[in-house]
Amino acid sequence: MAQMRRPYRPALLWFALPPAAGVTVALAYAASGRLEAALARGPRALDLAVWLALLAALLIPPVYGYREASGLARTAERRADAAHREARRAAQERLDRLLAEKAQMDLILQHMADGILLLDERRRIVLVNPAAERMLGVSRHEALGRDHLEVTHHFELDERLARVLATGRPEALEIRRAHPQEQILEARLALAPSGGERGVLVMLRDITRSRQLEQMRTEFVANVTHELRTPLTSIQGFAETLLEGALDEPETARHFVEIMLRESRHLGALIDELLDLSRVESGKFRMQRRPTVPAELIAATAARFAQKAERAGVQLVTEAPDGLPLINGDPDRLVQVLSNLVENAIKYTPAGGRITLSARRDGDGVRIAVADTGAGIPQADLGRIFERFYRVDKARSRATGGTGLGLAIAKHIVEAHGGTIGVESEVGKGSTFTVILPALTGPE
Ligand SMILES: Nc1ncnc2c1ncn2[C@@H]1O[C@H](COP(=O)(O)OP(=O)(O)OP(=O)(O)O)[C@@H](O)[C@H]1O
Ligand SMILES: [Mg+2]
Repeated sequence: MAQMRRPYRPALLWFALPPAAGVTVALAYAASGRLEAALARGPRALDLAVWLALLAALLIPPVYGYREASGLARTAERRADAAHREARRAAQERLDRLLAEKAQMDLILQHMADGILLLDERRRIVLVNPAAERMLGVSRHEALGRDHLEVTHHFELDERLARVLATGRPEALEIRRAHPQEQILEARLALAPSGGERGVLVMLRDITRSRQLEQMRTEFVANVTHELRTPLTSIQGFAETLLEGALDEPETARHFVEIMLRESRHLGALIDELLDLSRVESGKFRMQRRPTVPAELIAATAARFAQKAERAGVQLVTEAPDGLPLINGDPDRLVQVLSNLVENAIKYTPAGGRITLSARRDGDGVRIAVADTGAGIPQADLGRIFERFYRVDKARSRATGGTGLGLAIAKHIVEAHGGTIGVESEVGKGSTFTVILPALTGPE
């Protein structure tokens, strides 16, 4: 209805105009007549008063209106100004708050250990944090704006991303990478808005280390079982053979019992080493540290192995100058470390060889070395011989009664002293194991 009435308004105005113009002309005509008459008559006070009143009536409303209007306009202007300032202040506050929140978000993203990727609907990277840069081996500017496949090279991830975009439901998967190093990433995907359109948030966690530890634990149990079973099977086998008749042949019986004794000793040594290892690894290993003279450690170890070396036909020599700094160490544990090194040296050095047990100053610490002229260790194995159960030649090592735990224990003990252990070796020429221990500092 309102819409229909609107077009008639101008028409009404046009209808009103001619009568209004007529009236105005008539009035003007009458007024001019009166004015002419008045002028002809000469001014009279009453006429003058009438004209002044008329003039006032004509002028006062517009002047008053103008003043009123300009006052109102000024007030409105002031109010608009205040409202504008208020709006600007509120907007500034909102902006400051947003900037502060963004700075917080940036800080969290910068320092979090988990990798974060934000992908748009076309699966292009729109955000990447430093952890994700590290995990994926790309820099921010290389990654931003690129298709994730160019960076992740992972087609299963691509399929899962499509699924998240299609269903809106979160997904999780494991990403295994072989380059530049072996790496296992756990990826969790969730739908996320990205700049007005839909996107996917990818959270990455590096689980390589925990997987390795899990695998090491499984391998350890398998190794221990194997190591315990081997001598046990041997003991059982010889005992059965003895019972089946070998007991009647004293020579054979004696030989078998000797083997059984050796195997059971081996079993006992293995159990002791396992206990030691579990103690050092769990940190429950109690060390009794006190100021220790390096030369005494060397003398004690050499004395322990003098006979064994002689029987093996190798020469065992010691070198320890006077005046070496004291070590804050547990002498029994340090002799245990050196004993394992000397025992290995004797095991792997053929008759006629030479083993040198020496100590000398090394910067602020003491360097103790066990050098032999034996079989040596291949370069490929050098990096692994401090691992539990690692033996270079398993068959030979078993024959010599080794379990591959000695060096792992030695490494733990040395590190518990704040020291380091290392090895240099050349096949056919010999090996040198070096233990560096910090000297005693502070009041003695
Ligand atoms: N001086 C050495 N010369 C050559 N090979 C060595 C020497 N010392 C150690 N190895 C190699 O390193 C391996 C690990 O040594 P480790 O002392 O840990 O074990 P093990 O002597 O075999 O057994 P365990 O000491 O537990 O009785 C040995 O099996 C051997 O292959
Ligand atoms: Mg050993």
